[in-house]
Amino acid sequence: MICLGIEGTAHTAGIGIVDDSGNVLANVIKMVGGESKGIHPREAANHHAKEMPSLIDKAIEEAGLRYDNIDLIAFSQGPGLGPCLRTAATAARALSLSLDRPIIGVNHCVAHLEIGRKIAGCNDPVLLYASGGNTQVIAFAGGKYRVFGETLDIGIGNMLDKFGREMGLEFPSGPKIERLAKRGRELLDLPYSVKGMDVAFSGILTATLQLRKKGARLEDLCFSLQETCFSMLVEVTERAMAHVEKEEVLLGGGVVQNKRLQEMVRIMSEERRARMFVPPDRLCIDNGAMIAWTGILMHQSGIRMSIDETTVRQRFRTDEVEGVWRG
Ligand code: ATP
Ligand code: FE2
Repeated sequence: MICLGIEGTAHTAGIGIVDDSGNVLANVIKMVGGESKGIHPREAANHHAKEMPSLIDKAIEEAGLRYDNIDLIAFSQGPGLGPCLRTAATAARALSLSLDRPIIGVNHCVAHLEIGRKIAGCNDPVLLYASGGNTQVIAFAGGKYRVFGETLDIGIGNMLDKFGREMGLEFPSGPKIERLAKRGRELLDLPYSVKGMDVAFSGILTATLQLRKKGARLEDLCFSLQETCFSMLVEVTERAMAHVEKEEVLLGGGVVQNKRLQEMVRIMSEERRARMFVPPDRLCIDNGAMIAWTGILMHQSGIRMSIDETTVRQRFRTDEVEGVWRG
């Protein structure tokens, strides 16, 4: 079975083609970016609508296939930005109807975890999912994917991007902040906000901007921002691992490309005698391959959807997904 997956929850339009052994045959991605100032849902949706047809052609070509080789269409049903989700869903419905193939809607957060399980080779991990819009610690427990901790306000990536915008850094700012942080010398005092298993970032952003006004060095701010926020993420991830007694930690989302974050998670997991798994960058960020692979798992476990059931779900919760394919 070959599945074509369509991703379009936020900045990224992605088409992936995956077979039922988990081989990624194509994974093409186009992100709204450059000088674009943060995310405007309608503009991102227009971008996706414009790019989708050529991305689909490109993926089919990259996989060395024809349209009629595709057996299943999967798409990111949520959570995400309404206009973006609707664009991806429309493309999926059009393909499903024109090729006469089944369609399946996938939870985007669960897809980050499933592609990691397949490609990075872990079995039952705790996922630290840190992206632009999302920051969650997720694990499978009691037949469902459960969120053990999450951000109470904004996603960590969006916070980094907002800070970057104020500092005149190009979007997305995460990689620039990482580079500047390497030249940081002083760890500045920023509010460390972990509340139970949850984290919050907006207070840290405000404090960082205030320190800048008082003349703090940009490099020290980037360094301190990373150290503080990543420590918070590591703390809640470790607590979730202890709580559910799991010995694998998987990273997902664009922010986990950050080498300092990877290093901190690695140290924590080694101290617990656990193992860390990091998928390749193009499978960490939002992508269609993870949607296609999760679609295959769902289809193989007997899940079927009619077109009526493909309405997008902006607030699709991770724990609403029945993980029937996990047995
Ligand atoms: P979603 O929230 O829907 O999963 P997204 O489009 O916001 O998707 P991703 O593509 O997963 O997210 O990640 C983009 C984010 O990752 C941006 O906020 C960007 O600044 C951040 N990022 C990318 N590289 C790095 C890095 N090296 N260090 C820190 N953050 C990074
Ligand atoms: Fe994502």
